[in-house]
Amino acid sequence: MSDNVKEKIIGAPKSRIDGPKKLSGRAMYAADHHLPNMAYAYGVFSTVASGKINGIDLSAAKKMPGVIDIFHHDHFPDLYRTPSSFAQENKVDETRLPFEDNKVYYPGQFVALVVADTFANARAAAYKVNVDYSADEAAANLEQALAKNGSPKKDDKSGHTRGNPDEAFDSAPNKVDVTYVTPMETHNPMEMHASVANWENGDLVLYEASQGVVFARNVMAKVFGLPPERVEVRAPFIGSGFGSKLWLWPHAVAAAAASREIGRPVQLVVPRAQMFTTTGHRPPTRQQIRIGTDDNGKLLALSHDSVNTTSMVDTYVETTGSCTKSLYSCPNLRVSHATIGANHGTPTSMRAPGAAPGLFALESAMDEMAEQLKMDPLEFRKANYTERDESMDLPFSSIHLMEAFDKGAEKFGWSKRDHAVGSMRDGNDVIGWGMAACNWEALKMDCDARVSLRADGSAFASCATQDIGTGTYTIVAQAVSSITGIPIDKIEVELGDSSYPSGPISGGSWATATTLPAIAQATRAAIDELKGYVVADGGDFAGAKTDDIDFDDGKLINAEGKAVAYTDVLKRNKLANADGAAHTPGAPKGEYSFRSFGAHFVEVRWDAGISRLRVSRVVSAIDVGQIINAKTSANQVEGAVAMGIGMALFEATEYDERSGLPINNNYAEYLVPVHADNPPDVDVVLLDHPDYKFNEFGARGIGEIGVTGMAAAVANAVHHATGKRIRELPIRLEELM
Ligand code: MOS
Repeated sequence: MSDNVKEKIIGAPKSRIDGPKKLSGRAMYAADHHLPNMAYAYGVFSTVASGKINGIDLSAAKKMPGVIDIFHHDHFPDLYRTPSSFAQENKVDETRLPFEDNKVYYPGQFVALVVADTFANARAAAYKVNVDYSADEAAANLEQALAKNGSPKKDDKSGHTRGNPDEAFDSAPNKVDVTYVTPMETHNPMEMHASVANWENGDLVLYEASQGVVFARNVMAKVFGLPPERVEVRAPFIGSGFGSKLWLWPHAVAAAAASREIGRPVQLVVPRAQMFTTTGHRPPTRQQIRIGTDDNGKLLALSHDSVNTTSMVDTYVETTGSCTKSLYSCPNLRVSHATIGANHGTPTSMRAPGAAPGLFALESAMDEMAEQLKMDPLEFRKANYTERDESMDLPFSSIHLMEAFDKGAEKFGWSKRDHAVGSMRDGNDVIGWGMAACNWEALKMDCDARVSLRADGSAFASCATQDIGTGTYTIVAQAVSSITGIPIDKIEVELGDSSYPSGPISGGSWATATTLPAIAQATRAAIDELKGYVVADGGDFAGAKTDDIDFDDGKLINAEGKAVAYTDVLKRNKLANADGAAHTPGAPKGEYSFRSFGAHFVEVRWDAGISRLRVSRVVSAIDVGQIINAKTSANQVEGAVAMGIGMALFEATEYDERSGLPINNNYAEYLVPVHADNPPDVDVVLLDHPDYKFNEFGARGIGEIGVTGMAAAVANAVHHATGKRIRELPIRLEELM
C-alpha cells in the first residue's frame, strides 16, 4: 500500500464503526437476549458477612407466581472446580463454585437462586426465601483483617530485591518513610453483569458480559466437564468492564447450571448491589514507601512494601510495586506484596491493577522527597530517569518519558509554578499544581485471526477478542484497510465469539498490540492467495513470481507496473473471496523490557471559604508507541483521567465494621466523578513514537496507563495548594479544613 494511504488510516481520528449500532439500539448486549421459552433467575444473597447456613425455608417462595425451581446448596448439580491457569486460558478469581456448601465467606454471596417465568416473578419470589444463618464475627476491612486474621501472607512471585535497600536507606542523608492507604474500589461499568445460558443437545451457548470469551468458554467447559468445542460464549458488545468482566464469576455458572437443570434458556442479571460484592473489586491496600537520596536528589534506596485484602478462600495480589521496580534508576530497591483474608468476595484486576494504587503511593512519596530536598518535583524525577529496566536488567524497547515530562510541562505552564505551598491564588481560590509520572507494562499475547477479501470489494475480519467500548472493532478495520486500501466502511469486523479464531482478553492494555499483528498477517495471507490466483489464471500476470507482485489500494501490481483489481481476479476465477488465516506469537522475550510511560500535570482549585475542591485543569502526555486511532486513544486517556480523579477524590467501597456488611453498594452512595467534577477539558498529548521492537504496528496499548499516577498528581496538587499531605484515599474535604 502507499504510505499515503497507510498514514491516513493508521493514527487517524476515526469514529467507531460500531457507533451507529449502539446509538440505534441494534447492538445486543448480554441481557438484551430474550430467547424463546426463556426463564429468568434472580439470586438470593447472603445478608451475613461470615458464617453458615443452618437452613433455608422455601415454603413462601414456592407459592409465589411463576416459580419454576429454587436452587441452593442442598439442591444444585455437582459441578467441577476450575484449576485457575492463565497459560491454559482458564483463569478464575473465585475458585469456589456457587452453592458448593453451606458456608458463607462474604456478604452478597449467592445462597440461593430462584428461577421463574419472568424477571419480576423471580425477584419477588427471591425476597420470600428465608435463610437461617449462624453469623461469625467478620473482618470488614483491611485493619480488621490485619488485627484478626494473623500475619499477612507474602507473595514470592511478585516481589523483587536488588542491592541492600535497608542498609542504603539507613545510611542515606535524606529520607522519607511514609505509609499510604487506598480503599476498596468497585468497578462500575454501565452494563450490568449478565448471563443468558442456552443448552441444545448437551452443548452450551452462553451470552455473557465478558472481557474474554475464550477464557470464559474454557472455564465453562471445565466446570461442566465438557470439551471446549461444546461451549460457545458470545459477547459482541460489552458496556465496559474495567477488569470485573475478565474472568467468570459465580453467576454465570449458576445461570448455566440452572438452565441445564430446568431444560430452558435462563437469563440472570446481577443486581448492582451484588456487583459490589460478587463480581470483584480493587482491594484496599496499605503501602509503606521508604526513599533515601543523596543531596543532589539521586535515589540511593527505595522500598515499597504493600499488603492488600483478599477473600477468605482465594488469593489475589494487588501488585502495587509493579512500576516501582523499574520507573526510576535506583541501585538498592525492594518491592514486596502480601495479602490478608477479609470477608469480602474475591478481588480482581481493576483498570491498571497494582499500578493505580501503587503509583499513588510512589508518586506521592517522590513529591514528599522533592519537597524535603527543596527540588522541583519534575526535576527530581528527571534526575532519576533511566532508559534501562533495572529490575529485568534490560533496556526499554522505546522510552520517551523525558519528552512526556517536557511536552506536558510546556503545555501546562509548569515553569510558572511557584513552589511555595499556598502561594498561587486566583480570587478566592488557592491554586495547586501537582504532577506525577504514569507507567504501565506493555504486553502482547498469542493470537489467531481470519480475514476474507470479497469479490464485491468488501472485506471480513474476525477474531475472538472483544470490543469493550474501547474501539477494537474500529482499529481492526483500520488495520485491514491500511494494508488493502479497502475503505473502512466496507470492512465487516466480527469479534466477541469464542468460535472465532482464538484472540486475547480485552484487558491488560494488550488487545491492540495482540490483535492487530494477527489481523495484518491474515490480511497478507489473503493477498498471497490472490497472488496465487492471478499467476495461475492465464491473465497478464501469468508466470510472474508472486514475490514480484505488489498489492496497493485494492489492486495487484506486477513488476512492469500493470495493475488489476483484486475483485476482478476473484470474479474471473468465480471465487467469492480470498481467505487468509494467521497465528502471531506473544511479545519477544529476553532483549527488551516493554513498557509505556507518561506524565500527568494537574491543577486544583481550593476555595477554603466554602470548602470546595475542584480539579480545574489536566495535561496528560502519554508515550504508548504508535497511536492507531487518535480519537479512541484520546478517549481512553480522558476516561482514565476521570477515573483517576474518582480515585483521588471520591471512590471508596465501605463496609460496616460491626456487621461486615457493605454500606454504599449503589450508584447513589458510591461516588464517581460527574461532569461537574471533571475539568472542562483534559489535554491529552499523544507522543506517537512507534515501538517496532514490540510489533509491526509499533503500538503498545493505551487502556490503562492514563489512570496510573493520576491520583498522586491530584494529591500533590492538593498539597501544593493547602499544605496538607493526604496519604489516605480518597481525599476528603474535611481533611483539608
Ligand atoms: Mo483490565 S483491569 O486488565 O480490564
